This record gives sequence, structure tokens and C-alpha cells, in this order.
Amino acid sequence: MQNDIQEILISEEEIQGKIKELGEVLSKEFADRNPLVICVLKGAFIFMADLVKNITVPLEMDFMAVSSYGASTKSSGVVKIIKDLDQTVEGRDVLIVEDIIDSGLTLSHLIELLQNRGAKSTTVVTLFDKPSGRSVNLEADYTGFVLPDAFVVGYGLDYAEHYRNLPYIGILKPEIYTS
Ligand code: XMP
Ligand code: MG
Repeated sequence: MQNDIQEILISEEEIQGKIKELGEVLSKEFADRNPLVICVLKGAFIFMADLVKNITVPLEMDFMAVSSYGASTKSSGVVKIIKDLDQTVEGRDVLIVEDIIDSGLTLSHLIELLQNRGAKSTTVVTLFDKPSGRSVNLEADYTGFVLPDAFVVGYGLDYAEHYRNLPYIGILKPEIYTS
């Protein structure tokens, strides 16, 4: 698996350090608000787990699975709900936990959906951002790392469901996804 990685972009230590910082900031922002923290599956599941351990105020969690990519490396622009939330977001302060923002299409659909369902507020934290891929005008409220326009894997992110279990973020060798 490690042999398929051309370059490690962000190490495990850097990721964990950044998540501690994000946790501190979010603990202040959401003190006394009992946020509903929503993990966007599957990619954000490792970030979610590490992040909530660093948020020190009461919160609730829920999980939602959306898909826009299939086995391709480009967004189709179609966001499909694969698994919906169990809880209602009406009147709640919602914190959306994303792995990566590229075109922004997935997130803009999700924010609209949650606002239509009556969320009191929507805040977005993303671990990674690829601003050069943007096709809609959208920024996260909190961003861990800005990445170059390359397809990355690891720390929850996959290529055709593989590599999610790498503890760092890396770039795949091109021959892996062109073959
Ligand atoms: P959009 O383009 O809608 O994409 O902002 C957001 C979702 O697409 C996935 N994504 C990636 N997954 N490596 C991945 O494994 C990448 O480089 C990458 N870029 C986008 C991801 O699931 C994200 O939630
Ligand atoms: Mg994916």
C-alpha cells in the first residue's frame, strides 16, 4: 500500500497537531450550544473521531453518507444521499465535519439541505481544502490544510475504497489511477 504513494504531503504528526488546534477553537465557539456534529461519510470518519476527542464541550453526533464521485477522481456534480441523519436538525447549531473541499458542490448541496430542514446555524470544518478546484463560491469556516490540485489519499480519503487507513495524506503514483 505504501508503495503506491508517490509523496507524503502531510504527516501524521502534522495532522494530529492541527486537529488539536481546531479542537480548541471549536470548544470555545460551541461552548453552551450543544452542537449537532455531523460527519460526512465516508471520507471524514477518521477526522471526526480525532476531532471530537479534542472538543471538550457537550455535543451530539450524527452521520450522513453522500456520494458525488463513484470510483472516479472528479466530482460528477450530482450529490446522492446514501445514508441520511437519524436526528432532526431543526433549531440546532450544526457543525459539518468534512474531509476535503474540492469543487464545493457536495458541501453547498449539504448546507442548503440542512438549512431547508431548519438548522439554526451551519458551521463547516474541513481538514483539507483544494481551493483551485472550486466551481461554486464557498469557503469553510475552519480549514486544516490547503492542498495543491492533486488527487490525495489517506487519513479517510480513498481511491476506489482503498488507502483510507493510511495515517497521513499522500499523492498516489499516477500509474495507479491511469492503469
Ligand atoms: P467536491 O468536489 O464536491 O468534493 O467539493 C468533495 C468530496 O469529494 C471527495 N474528494 C476527494 N476524495 N481524494 C479523495 O479521496 C481527493 O483528492 C478528493 N477531492 C475530493 C471527498 O469525498 C469530498 O468529500
Ligand atoms: Mg471518496
